Amino acid sequence: MNQDEMKRAAAEAALEYVEPGMIVGIGTGSTANHFIDLLAGMKGKLEGTVASSVASEERLRSHGIDVLDFNSAGQLQLYVDGADESTKHLHLIKGGGGALTREKIVAGGSDKFVCIADDTKLVDILGEFPLPVEVIPMARSMVARQLVKLGGTPELRNGFTTDNGNLILDVKNMDILNPVEMEQEINKIPGVVTVGIFAIRPADVLILGSENGVRTLTA
Ligand code: 5RP
Repeated sequence: MNQDEMKRAAAEAALEYVEPGMIVGIGTGSTANHFIDLLAGMKGKLEGTVASSVASEERLRSHGIDVLDFNSAGQLQLYVDGADESTKHLHLIKGGGGALTREKIVAGGSDKFVCIADDTKLVDILGEFPLPVEVIPMARSMVARQLVKLGGTPELRNGFTTDNGNLILDVKNMDILNPVEMEQEINKIPGVVTVGIFAIRPADVLILGSENGVRTLTA
């Protein structure tokens, strides 16, 4: 199995969490795209979906799946999304696709967060993957200086604007030994919209696709 097939296997296993009549929150990225494509097979049974990005919304609509406004959807029962890294405590780094803020919003408004990934994403300590931070454009330099003080090496994601009209700093060399504390610390910097650490609200279930099939970790 190649990495993409492992992602698809994890996405397929997540279908088990979808129940008739649900409004399902949908993440962003190649693993979430597999989930969207697979979900199309049961679209008649869903009340609808909420998308965490314009790209996912477009993909959902291309399958004829209803996409609702999060403000009118209420609390969701289920959110399904990928990740760039996860620990066994289901603390995540997300935002490789730049959709971290909307992803964190939808995850925060969902009872259950099922994270789907290939098993190369499982790490002991978060931070090998450059940590995405969404920033208000005018605060870019100031936030970068604060991130250097925290030990990181921030780099502007060139030519990229988020769905919210903001910028992404990708921060290398962060040893994220205490993900909850680091999430709070970075989110406190004025001009930061959100950091791509998902630890205050971690995933509830992690489904990992691997060479030997799919395994599930719970928090
Ligand atoms: C997008 C994300 C994605 O979930 C993350 O980047 C993983 O992507 P992929 O499924 O393509 O490996 O956080 O903002």
